[in-house]
Amino acid sequence: MILRIDIGAYVLTDAVREAVQSLTSDRLFLRSTVAIAEGGMENALTKLSDRSTPQLLIIESTAQGQALFDELNALSELCQPGTRVIIVGAENDINLFKTLIDQGISQYFVATLSADELKNAIIDAYADESANAKCRTIAFTGLSGGVGSSVLAHNVGSQLAKLYNDDVIVVDLDMAFGTLALSFNIQPNATMMDALSQLDNIDESLLVRFMEVGEKNVSLLCSPSNLNTGLEITDRSIEKILNVVRQMASYVILDVPHSWNRWVQDVLVDADETVLVGVPDLYNLRNGKNMIDFLTPNRGVQAATRLILNKVGQTKKGELDAKEFKDVLDLQPALSIPYDSESFMTAMNNGEMISKVAKGSKAAHGIESLAKLVSGHESLTQVTKSKGGILSSLFKKK
Ligand SMILES: Nc1ncnc2c1ncn2[C@@H]1O[C@H](COP(=O)(O)OP(=O)(O)O)[C@@H](O)[C@H]1O
Ligand SMILES: [Mg+2]
Repeated sequence: MILRIDIGAYVLTDAVREAVQSLTSDRLFLRSTVAIAEGGMENALTKLSDRSTPQLLIIESTAQGQALFDELNALSELCQPGTRVIIVGAENDINLFKTLIDQGISQYFVATLSADELKNAIIDAYADESANAKCRTIAFTGLSGGVGSSVLAHNVGSQLAKLYNDDVIVVDLDMAFGTLALSFNIQPNATMMDALSQLDNIDESLLVRFMEVGEKNVSLLCSPSNLNTGLEITDRSIEKILNVVRQMASYVILDVPHSWNRWVQDVLVDADETVLVGVPDLYNLRNGKNMIDFLTPNRGVQAATRLILNKVGQTKKGELDAKEFKDVLDLQPALSIPYDSESFMTAMNNGEMISKVAKGSKAAHGIESLAKLVSGHESLTQVTKSKGGILSSLFKKK
């Protein structure tokens, strides 16, 4: 979830000021604005009398009992409909708390609040807009074009359904050139274009009609793969569609094209797992550096960004190795998948998965390892082999 709200805070104490300030470095608020003013409730009532209210107000007040209600009455006169309010007050009274919540105050805190309490209160206030917490969203993109990000995304989707016998939806976000339908050898009757053109009515029952069955437990929201749709994904439309998609499966795989704009950035920041696929050359190293420098602070430490080196061994001479990537990016490549033109070419031509056309191959093992890695079910122990720069990975069940 990325919240797009303007937040106005009127604070009195250092603790509350710091709690509000901490929001600005949280990925949840990447697309929100946070304005902090001093003076608490008194200043809020003055300032808000001649301007529109932000979507969320955080106001500190020392008033008690009737005086607090008087302030809140005055405040409610000034607030536009839909404004949500979090009050940090002085009085510790459960009845007061209940009355305030009944009046539409989102949360009432006594005396002070920590950064986490504030964040949780905001999440609660906007809970209706938040997604299904059960769903794990895994975004794949390439450090350059043609590196195998899509084919790995599709294969990992298929693999997750098999490994955990769970529902997976794969969403192809490459409107013009997407390959999801080809990967599963289907001709889609409906696509992302239908979802985008009926955005105002989008819900689960509508979206399910735009999906195809790829395999058992794997549903596909294909791209139109057409140059003339005239429809573009935007940060708002993608958010709307993904909020619905996330209610519909345990895993959502996003096949994100190699491009850089607001909605791509949002998707890569917001996913539970972001997988960057690159080939071991200098362009990918440079692009990887730029992308990781953007993603790491925005995603925070809890949300993993994985780097996968693909097509390793394609060129015998001149390839960079995993260590060189690690040194420059400060991120150990999680996995290397060897170049295997025969398996990938057969898979493409047949519209089948690598696990089927090249069962037992290193590529198939790599994809299975990657699926386990991003599943959230297992922990990874990596063993680096220096020979050929190829990493092999061992998994240990928790
Ligand atoms: N490990 C690999 N060995 C050989 N060919 C590969 C490998 N990974 C991907 N490919 C091939 O590379 C091409 C580009 O893959 P694709 O997934 O469309 O890339 P991207 O989505 O990054 O643009 C496809 O033909 C695919 O089969
Ligand atoms: Mg692609």
